[in-house]
Amino acid sequence: MEKKHTITICLGSSCFTRGNDVNLEIIKKFLADRGLKEQVDFRGHLCVNSCNKGPVLKIDGTTYYEIDARQVEELLNKIFAVKEVTL
Ligand code: FES
Repeated sequence: MEKKHTITICLGSSCFTRGNDVNLEIIKKFLADRGLKEQVDFRGHLCVNSCNKGPVLKIDGTTYYEIDARQVEELLNKIFAVKEVTL
């Protein structure tokens, strides 16, 4: 099956320690919980020399800088159009 989306996360030491360690887990859990692993090419990469603007995350060709956990969740919800369910 062809992947519909691409997510790459910087796993260089600067980005990793400044937030991508948490962002990585959020993305993994998001994809697993919603059964999206088959639709998303999700991979890590090494430092791209943008450490001063990290953590760095790229989704479907757009690079996001200084991204925190709340922004990651917002982006994922927006991209995958997850509707909030109120009980
Ligand atoms: S560690 Fe991510 S850009 Fe350098």
